[in-house]
Amino acid sequence: MFKPNPYRPGAGLMPTFLAGRDEDIQSMEQMFDALIMNIPMQSVIYSGLRGVGKTVLINRLQKIAEGKGIFCKHIEVETRNDFISQIATCSQMFLREVSAKEKVKQLVRKSLDAIKSLVVSFDPNGSTFSLSIQDRELYQSNNLTQSLTDVFTSIGETAYESETPICFFIDEIQYMKVEELGSLIAALHRTNQLGYPVMVIGAGLPKIYKMLSDEKTYSERLFIYKEVGSLTYEQSEKAITEPVKKLHVLYTKAAVDQIINITKGYPFFIQQFCKLVYQNTDDKVIELEHVEKVLPDFFKTLDEGFFKVRYERCSDSDKKFIFAMVKCNELPCTISNISKQLGKKGKSISPTRAQLINKGIIYPVRHKELDFTVPEFSGFIQRLDEYKEWCKKQ
Ligand SMILES: Nc1ncnc2c1ncn2[C@@H]1O[C@H](COP(=O)(O)OP(=O)(O)OP(=O)(O)O)[C@@H](O)[C@H]1O
Ligand SMILES: [Mg+2]
Repeated sequence: MFKPNPYRPGAGLMPTFLAGRDEDIQSMEQMFDALIMNIPMQSVIYSGLRGVGKTVLINRLQKIAEGKGIFCKHIEVETRNDFISQIATCSQMFLREVSAKEKVKQLVRKSLDAIKSLVVSFDPNGSTFSLSIQDRELYQSNNLTQSLTDVFTSIGETAYESETPICFFIDEIQYMKVEELGSLIAALHRTNQLGYPVMVIGAGLPKIYKMLSDEKTYSERLFIYKEVGSLTYEQSEKAITEPVKKLHVLYTKAAVDQIINITKGYPFFIQQFCKLVYQNTDDKVIELEHVEKVLPDFFKTLDEGFFKVRYERCSDSDKKFIFAMVKCNELPCTISNISKQLGKKGKSISPTRAQLINKGIIYPVRHKELDFTVPEFSGFIQRLDEYKEWCKKQ
């Protein structure tokens, strides 16, 4: 018999109960209200490890902003999905939405021209506008920052005049190309200076803080940085117990404690673990023994899914680098310690380090230290035969 399950492990899947993010939501609501009153707001960047709930948080915020009449668009940056074409399409959609207002007709035309120039010059596969060769030459630009700034300031002015603020939600910011990120920061900065109601809510892995400040020093003032972390005991307890309340199911304290102990309050792990626990019992009270029973299944599911997809993206040299990090026995670990484990000079491991950071598997912490972006990744590595073999050879 099919039994509906209220837990939702999976990338970006909204949980039936969003635990522990009330403060973030409240402060953003205030910022949205200010934006509606035409008070330009700083943009906000959420950073955190894989599976902590960045995407679901920004999705919830988008719903709230939409409810308040803010024009919102979600952009997911991917290596194969060009950022420029996405931002151009979103800007065009905004213009379509406000174009009926007589007051902004002239501004809409100006904004469309700015978008045309951006697409013609920087979107390699752009098919948004069909233009003659002559027109193409007319719109051609060789400065991405200037073109994107023109788009932002003109749609910003349109937003101001049409009293329709804009909020772009940009997920996986760490995959943005350096020049795109630099242009986005500059464009947003100029729009803010002019007092137009455009804001960005971004999310990405912990390395984005450094990426942004490396790109433009003033980005530190342009953005509010917020860390999204694992849930506290009380928040985890709610994430575990609330989804089944309507189904008249309870957990004993010992069961809750053990789930928190194993998952360490990581939202994805909680959803995955509780899904298995719930699936495997028909009792109305979930006890410690129900939890213990699915423990092997829980690790197997994580190992074969969450962890393995990341591990399989690694080359042989990446894997050895990861093994060395685990062998350091403490995380974050220093680069000199990793090179010692590998028996190599610090400089020679730099390309592998950069590659792993690019793939979003590790990130730099403070000065010369590294950690995994995937929570509990070292436990997974330690369970691997490949790792055990490697250790024997060391
Ligand atoms: N506050 C929360 N309370 C309960 N469950 C949550 C919470 N936040 C996220 N989850 C659950 O955790 C899982 C991961 O969420 P999400 O995809 O938003 O993480 P993420 O930080 O965006 O991860 P990634 O870096 O891999 O994109 C989902 O299954 C979601 O339902
Ligand atoms: Mg995400």
